[in-house]
Amino acid sequence: MTPVLPLDNGSMATVKYRMRKPFIAANWKMHKTIPEALAFLSAFLPLVKDVTDVTIVLAPPFTALARVSEEVRGSNVRIAAQDLFFEEKGAFTGEISPVMLADVGCSYVIVGHSERRQYFFETDDVVNKKTRAAQKFGLGAIFCIGESLAEREEGKTFEVIHREIERGLDGVAPRGLVVAYEPIWAIGTGRTASPQQAQDAHAFIREKLRGFYGNEAERLCILYGGSVTPENIDSLMEKPDVDGALVGGASLKPEQFASIVTFGRKK
Ligand code: PGA
Repeated sequence: MTPVLPLDNGSMATVKYRMRKPFIAANWKMHKTIPEALAFLSAFLPLVKDVTDVTIVLAPPFTALARVSEEVRGSNVRIAAQDLFFEEKGAFTGEISPVMLADVGCSYVIVGHSERRQYFFETDDVVNKKTRAAQKFGLGAIFCIGESLAEREEGKTFEVIHREIERGLDGVAPRGLVVAYEPIWAIGTGRTASPQQAQDAHAFIREKLRGFYGNEAERLCILYGGSVTPENIDSLMEKPDVDGALVGGASLKPEQFASIVTFGRKK
């Protein structure tokens, strides 16, 4: 449903009817020391302090989580980790458990990002275990899927998404679940999927989620990720099944990310 509303200046604006609260998350990847993260926050928090109609999430590196979480306490910003291990505790040198993430104040965790799948060989099975572990310990999982350029060119986009959802969400409840569609060819390349390409993939994902969760699927946010900027966020967010964004490069600068979070408003 997209109502057309008159504006003060007499022109008309189409306003998308939203049944889901938009969700915009910053994935800082391997960027920012603690002082850099704090400098970001002192510029960013005042810029978004009045935003109540968007869920705002920051995913700093592990080393900055505790400090950032302390700093945003009481604000409208939530914290996510970028990864987790699926065991609660034990002899897993170098790994971090969902219990530890909850302990430092994380509300969410990104799972199955394409960089984890590509550089750290995470399979659908591992991604599934991580997603379940996140849920088990009360964290919302930002579950990432998306096809490579070769797969898109071979016409396999929907096949890949289908497989990643079938395997990755096996046994996963809808509680706290957020799905991020990130075509690998659009990540960090400056090459965004067109709003229609994003919508087509999101509509397909929504349909798969209906298969898993029935009507609950209408409440789940599906984010788009891949070269999102202040310039392209508005046209992406106009699409009916695009409920938010997972933002890498453009989330590192406070003004840029604030401008994405406040999409749709006059800049
Ligand atoms: P990008 O990264 O915005 O720099 O393309 C998005 C992501 O990998 O989550």
